[in-house]
Amino acid sequence: LLVFSGQSNRPLAQAICDNLGIPLGASKTEKFTNDNIIVHYEQSLREGDVFIVQSFSTPVSDAIMELLLMIDAAKSASAGRVTAVIPYYSYARSDKKDSPRISIAGRMVADIIQAAGADRVLTMTLHSPQVHGFFKVPVDHLSADRVLSAHFKKCVPNAQEGVVLAPDAGSIKRASQIARRLDCGLAMIDKERLSDTEVRPRALIGDVEGKTVFIVDDEISTAGSLVETVNIARSMGAKDVYVAVTHGVYTGPAIERIAALDVTQVASTNTVYVSEEKIKASNGKLAVLD
Ligand code: R5P
Repeated sequence: LLVFSGQSNRPLAQAICDNLGIPLGASKTEKFTNDNIIVHYEQSLREGDVFIVQSFSTPVSDAIMELLLMIDAAKSASAGRVTAVIPYYSYARSDKKDSPRISIAGRMVADIIQAAGADRVLTMTLHSPQVHGFFKVPVDHLSADRVLSAHFKKCVPNAQEGVVLAPDAGSIKRASQIARRLDCGLAMIDKERLSDTEVRPRALIGDVEGKTVFIVDDEISTAGSLVETVNIARSMGAKDVYVAVTHGVYTGPAIERIAALDVTQVASTNTVYVSEEKIKASNGKLAVLD
C-alpha cells in the first residue's frame, strides 16, 4: 500500500499514514513560471496499490490538475491500481443542468479523473449522493454522520433534548440521520439561494424555541447559508446553537461572518485543511475534528 499526497491537504494524508503505520510516499510537485505543474514520484510505484490524497479546496483548478497529473504519472510508472482519495469533491455542487447552456461540472470532472486513469475513487459527503453515479469506476462514499453526532453528544450531554436543524431541503436526510443518532427532534429551513454569497430563508418548519439547536450541513463555503440559518433559529427562540459540517471550506467572507455569529461553536472534519490563522480570526469559534 502506497499513500501519496497532493498539495491541498498534506496534514490529512500524513494523519492517514500515521494511522496505518506507514510513511507518506515521496513525491514532488513544482509550478513553472507559466503556471504549468509538474509532478514527480521519488520512489518506485511498480505494481503498487497506490492511493493519492487530494481535496478540491482552493485553488480548486490547481488541485484538480495536480491530481490528474499524479494519477497519470502513477499509471505511467506501472502502478498496479490507483485510487483517487478526494475527501472534498467541490464540483459535487454542480450536479444538474439548473440553467440553460451550462456544464454539469460534477460529471465532467468525474470523466476526466477516470480518463486520467483512476481505478477507484474514495470520497466523503458528496453535496448530493447521486453524484456518486457520475463515476463508472467503483466509488466508496464515506459519511461523517457518526463523527458529527459523537461531537454534538460530547459538547451537549443532554443532546436528546435539543433539535437538529437542516439549513435547506437538500440536507434534510442527513439531518434526520443525525437526529436519530442523537435521539432528538428535527426542524428545517426553507431557503432560497440568491447568489454565490447570499441566501434568503423563507420559513423555519419545526420547533426550536428554548432548545439547543444542532445545525448540520455538507459544507460551509461563504457561510451565507449558515448566517441566515442561525439568525432565523435565534429569532424563533433557539437557546444555544452548535454547528458541525463535513467540509469546512471557509471562502470569501466566511471567517468574518462566523466571528460575528451568535453560536457556541462551528466544527468541521479535516477533509479540508483549516489554517491556524483562520481558527484565530474566527474568535475561537472554529474547531476541526479529526
Ligand atoms: C447548499 O446547498 C449546501 O448544502 C451548503 O449549505 C452550501 O454549499 C453552503 O454554502 P455557503 O456557505 O456559501 O452558503
